[in-house]
Amino acid sequence: MAARFGAVADASDALDPTRIPRHIACVMDGNGRWAQARGLPRTEGHRAGEHALFEVVDEALELGVEWLTVYAFSTENWRRPRDEVRFLIDFNEDILLRRRDELNERGVRIRFVGRRNWRVPRRLIRRMDEATELTRRNRRLTFTIAFNYGGRAEIVDAVRSLIAAGTPADKVDERRIARHLYDPEMPDPDLVIRTSGEYRISNFLLWQLAYSELYFTEVLWPDFGRRELVAAIRDYQQRERRFGAVDGG
Ligand code: FPP
Repeated sequence: MAARFGAVADASDALDPTRIPRHIACVMDGNGRWAQARGLPRTEGHRAGEHALFEVVDEALELGVEWLTVYAFSTENWRRPRDEVRFLIDFNEDILLRRRDELNERGVRIRFVGRRNWRVPRRLIRRMDEATELTRRNRRLTFTIAFNYGGRAEIVDAVRSLIAAGTPADKVDERRIARHLYDPEMPDPDLVIRTSGEYRISNFLLWQLAYSELYFTEVLWPDFGRRELVAAIRDYQQRERRFGAVDGG
C-alpha cells in the first residue's frame, strides 16, 4: 500500500506507512563546510545543525519512527581545535537544557551511548543523566545521542564487560556481546543516513549496522530536514532487505 503520509504533503512524497524504518541513525555531517561556504565560523554550522536535527525529530515523530540515533560527538572529535571541542561540549549541554522539556512533553525518551567515564566533563554527564531520568517513561520515540562515542570503543567496552563478568571464552557469542553494548535494548538501525557527500561510516554503530541500509546524500546537514528525511525513507522503501538470505528463503 502506498499512501501519502507525513507532513510533507506532495504526491511525490508517497510513503508506505507500513514500512517506516523502526530505527533511523544519522551521521550529521557537513556543518563546518556549510558555515565556511557562508563565510561564517564553523560553530555557526553546528548551530544551524540543531535546527535540522529538530526538523528530523519532528518528522520522525509524525511518521511513527520508534528509534532515532544521532552522532553528536565521536571519540575522534577530541582531535579538533580546542575551541571547537569546548563549543561542542557546551552546545550539547545547552541543547539538553533548552530542549529536554519539550521532548519530554512529546513523549520522547532521551538516551545516550558512548564512553561516559573518559574525558566527558562531569557537568555534562549530570545533564545527560537528568535528561535520561526525566524522559525515561516515554515510549513514543527513543532519541539516542551518541556522545563521546566510537564503534570500536563500544566493542572493546563490551568485551571488557564480558570478561569482568567472568564469561568463559566458549560462552562468548553474538547475543552475549550484544547484551554488553552501551544500550542492549537498542534495536539495530534499519536505515543509516550520512549527509555531506562523505561515503564512510566513521566508527558509528559498527556492531549494530551489520545489515542496515545505508543512505548517503550530498546535502549538508544544516540543509537536511523533513523533506530530505522523507526522501531517504522513500529510497529505503524501494530496497529489498534479505539479511543474507535469498528471495523466498
Ligand atoms: C559534523 O559536522 C557535526 C558534528 C561534529 C556535531 C553535530 C552536533 C549537533 C548538530 C548537536 C547535537 C546535539 C545534541 C544534544 C543532540 P562537521 O563539523 O564534521 O562538518 P564538516 O565535515 O563540514 O567539517
